[in-house]
Amino acid sequence: MGDVTIKVRDSGPYLVKGPITLTDADGNLYEITGENVALCRCGGSQTKPFCDGTHKTSGFSATERAGVRV
Ligand code: FES
Repeated sequence: MGDVTIKVRDSGPYLVKGPITLTDADGNLYEITGENVALCRCGGSQTKPFCDGTHKTSGFSATERAGVRV
């Protein structure tokens, strides 16, 4: 297993655990404290690329599993 893991939460964000560097499209660094970060995948966050919890009330639903293709 690598030093960084990304867990896809049911109907929620990508939870990234491990030492990462996160930049915007221009290469500017986002400040990250600690080694855990939740990245929005629902598109509704007001603090993209970070999850702000909006997925809980937006109706976002995604429960895919690895190895299962529809
Ligand atoms: S996944 Fe949490 S706000 Fe988008």
